[in-house]
Amino acid sequence: MIGAQTNLYAIIGKPIKHSLSPKLHNSMFEKYNIDAVYVAFEVNNLKQAIEGIRGLGIKGINITLPFKNEAIQLVDYLDQEAKIIGSINTIKNLNGELFGFNTDYLGFFETIKDTDCSKNICILGAGGASSACIYAFYKKGVKTLNIYNRTFKNAFKLKERFSDLITLNIIEKKDVYKSEIIVNTTSVSLSENEFVLDLNLLNKNTLLVDIVYNSPLIKHAKAFGINGIDGNRMFVYQAYWAFKIWTGIEFDINYAFEVINGNH
Ligand code: ATR
Repeated sequence: MIGAQTNLYAIIGKPIKHSLSPKLHNSMFEKYNIDAVYVAFEVNNLKQAIEGIRGLGIKGINITLPFKNEAIQLVDYLDQEAKIIGSINTIKNLNGELFGFNTDYLGFFETIKDTDCSKNICILGAGGASSACIYAFYKKGVKTLNIYNRTFKNAFKLKERFSDLITLNIIEKKDVYKSEIIVNTTSVSLSENEFVLDLNLLNKNTLLVDIVYNSPLIKHAKAFGINGIDGNRMFVYQAYWAFKIWTGIEFDINYAFEVINGNH
């Protein structure tokens, strides 16, 4: 039961109402008998929200759209990997000192772990999520990636950020369709009606990966006979690593999938 000793965890973002994180983390707190509760806050002012974490002694937070990049400047310590990626999705509060981590890249690494990455790969988008995916490909041993983004200069910034680790070729939209693996990291697939790609132009052998869970893009692609992977695995694994950072516990992955599939 929630009492005076109960610890608070939260996710902050805007919009946030669609998030499955409260459901997953609260199920795990219950499963492992941890006296804690996880809630969602829709935030307008990130700086004030982060000060609130310190002020109220909130033990840990997840950060989602659109704050993952901005949050990096507001913590006291940054994990080495988060520093390279340039964004954080997890904060641990230790006695008022905030430690920032990126567990998105670990989640994406798990998504591509068994994929043959010697192919022609294209990343769509050049935000914080894109950066985490690029780093995961680097960790998988990939040396070169193509990248397409609506705004060239944002893709160029990532090219520079990763120049010591991995070669990013900035390509035009028409060339995206030549790829064997396409990873959508833009926020466009969050919408049911707008797609970042024309599915008619995709080669049927292309593997389409989206980082959004229950992705409408992947659902539609499958209806077109295109092989797709959505963000469910990435979601579960980013939560797994965040939970471990906060509690030290490695939660049961199968149970996590059952929770997000509505079986608990
Ligand atoms: P995140 O942290 O999830 O990566 P972000 O940093 O806001 O979020 O990045 C969003 C990405 O989606 C960007 O690459 C953005 O393209 P721009 O750099 O041109 O802004 C991309 N994006 C968002 N809306 C888009 C749209 N309607 N069409 C194409 N790309 C879009």
